[in-house]
Amino acid sequence: MPKHIGIIMDGNGRWAKERGLPRTDGHVAGAKVFRKISDYCHDIGIEVVTFYAFSTENWRRPPTEVAALMKLFKEYLVEADEIKYDRQKGGYILRFIGDTGAVPKELQKLVAKTQLDALDENTTIINIALNYGGRQEILHSVKQIAEKVEKGELKASKITEEDIEAGLYTAGQPDPDLIIRPSGELRLSNFLTYQSAYSELYFSNVLWPDFTTDDLDEAILDYAKRNRRFGGV
Ligand code: FPP
Repeated sequence: MPKHIGIIMDGNGRWAKERGLPRTDGHVAGAKVFRKISDYCHDIGIEVVTFYAFSTENWRRPPTEVAALMKLFKEYLVEADEIKYDRQKGGYILRFIGDTGAVPKELQKLVAKTQLDALDENTTIINIALNYGGRQEILHSVKQIAEKVEKGELKASKITEEDIEAGLYTAGQPDPDLIIRPSGELRLSNFLTYQSAYSELYFSNVLWPDFTTDDLDEAILDYAKRNRRFGGV
């Protein structure tokens, strides 16, 4: 079983277009699938699942679409506030990765509150990549290291991969074993750029709003057949 699965939730717009609906309806449908798949990952005992919800490049979309997405995230976080009371029954921890300081203030507050609630260490972690970009994340880590060097706390010649990892938003979490991208696109689009060095990639033609727990099972079964060598033989 993969410990960490990354999911690029792609194809919402095309799903809506196929039905003659506005793109935002595709995101609403996609958000429902996000809930279903996060619950399922928790049920089957996956340790970490990272969902690509909004990239640093997604600000280029029409303002109405961006606003609709922010509204969906807010609605979910209000709902998630209730989920935490279910922890005893085995809920999950929500974390955010990305430059969340740049999202609308109201959403920022909800994000901060959700992060604070994330205390239980013994359950599935759901990372939501929000205003996330892999290159931006590496830059964020590099700046932290540069500050330490500037202060004389670290020698440039002594910088290690662990120092870079410590500055990533996923610090302390295992790297993604499996990255799933539905909708037929064959690229990673700035998702977990550093962490995906040895990830197994799984692409499917299903559009995200049509993605089911059976599709996830299929991806996991495919992953289980792979021979991971990490550069060895
Ligand atoms: C890419 O599909 C999808 C997004 C940019 C948004 C993903 C967000 C969600 C599914 C909502 C998640 C909700 C929560 C609460 C985390 P696209 O619109 O680029 O699809 P297209 O390529 O078919 O146009």
